[in-house]
Amino acid sequence: MSKQHHITLLPGDGIGPEIMSVAVEVLNAIALKHDFKFTFTEALIGGAAIDETGEPLPEATLTACRNSDAVLLAAIGGYKWDNLPRHQRPETGLLGMRAGLGLFANLRPATILPQLIDASSLKREIVEGVDIMVVRELTGGIYFGQPKGIFATETGEQRGVNTMAYSVSEIDRIAKVGFETAQKRGGKLCSVDKANVLDVSQLWRDRVTAMAKDYSNVELSHLYVDNAAMQLVRAPKQFDTIVTGNLFGDILSDAAAMLTGSIGMLPSASLGEAGKPGVFEPVHGSAPDIAGQDKANPLAQVLSAAMMLRYGLNESKAATEIEDAVNQVLDKGYRTGDIMSEGMKAVGCQEMGEVLIKLITDN
Ligand code: IPM
Ligand code: MG
Repeated sequence: MSKQHHITLLPGDGIGPEIMSVAVEVLNAIALKHDFKFTFTEALIGGAAIDETGEPLPEATLTACRNSDAVLLAAIGGYKWDNLPRHQRPETGLLGMRAGLGLFANLRPATILPQLIDASSLKREIVEGVDIMVVRELTGGIYFGQPKGIFATETGEQRGVNTMAYSVSEIDRIAKVGFETAQKRGGKLCSVDKANVLDVSQLWRDRVTAMAKDYSNVELSHLYVDNAAMQLVRAPKQFDTIVTGNLFGDILSDAAAMLTGSIGMLPSASLGEAGKPGVFEPVHGSAPDIAGQDKANPLAQVLSAAMMLRYGLNESKAATEIEDAVNQVLDKGYRTGDIMSEGMKAVGCQEMGEVLIKLITDN
């Protein structure tokens, strides 16, 4: 009997359902060519879950995720839910899922695709060949540190508080992912912190520095986060793998993504302990303004499915086949609106999926 991979699908909001449906068809097409099968369970998250159950991450969703081999997420959020109290916002569901599944390592690649290079806002010679992996810590730092909240001071004035805190074990486990990722890539790791000001960053830097002796084949450097932001837009090719904390990683990964000019093409992986399910999702948001109009670019979702095969299900061959098909679709000139340029063939979300599946099936 062929192997079964059990996947929880979280289509979420906005363009989520339409791009997810393309990814599922692509996964089914790839499974037909390999010795495995998928079973899918769909669950609610974000605004869709709020509308149905009143909460952004129902317990049933977390349970379904925990019981699967991997989770494929599309996108969450939209204007409709922006003004709800914080505990009911779609973003809170996402943070709850990261914490609930222990997804401490977030891998965000920013790769320039040669076919789309002119979509970058930077000059061709600056971005050509850029291939960066941001390894962002995802379940600690200022996003989760205590105390947090809005408190009244002794004078009765309100004071908003968040705490940036990292323990040694939290730093060590993400640093390890950083070093190992660099080892598999170009062998260069840049750790980003604010050690000139923050104690939490000094500890971070000390631990990363200490770990370097276990990875003699990785060239380690350190940058302060402000300088890192500057270097990313000045000379992005100096970077191979970046490891950083939750907040700095949030900001730098958006900057890195934008270098490519095509955020609609970028996947990501959030991973916890070995053997536990990871969550795979596009970097882009739910794009409520174009939802339901067949205009969305499904390729980041499809590439997230490929990342799921590689990092979550140990099916790298199938992952590569999907990535190759995406490349060929671009080579053939098919473009959704977000990546359209002169002389290319404009297609919608669904047609992009059909072209992809035909390529996978014929390859
Ligand atoms: C991201 C997003 C989230 C974050 C939001 C939606 C909570 O910006 O995944 O980068 O800040 O982590
Ligand atoms: Mg972000």
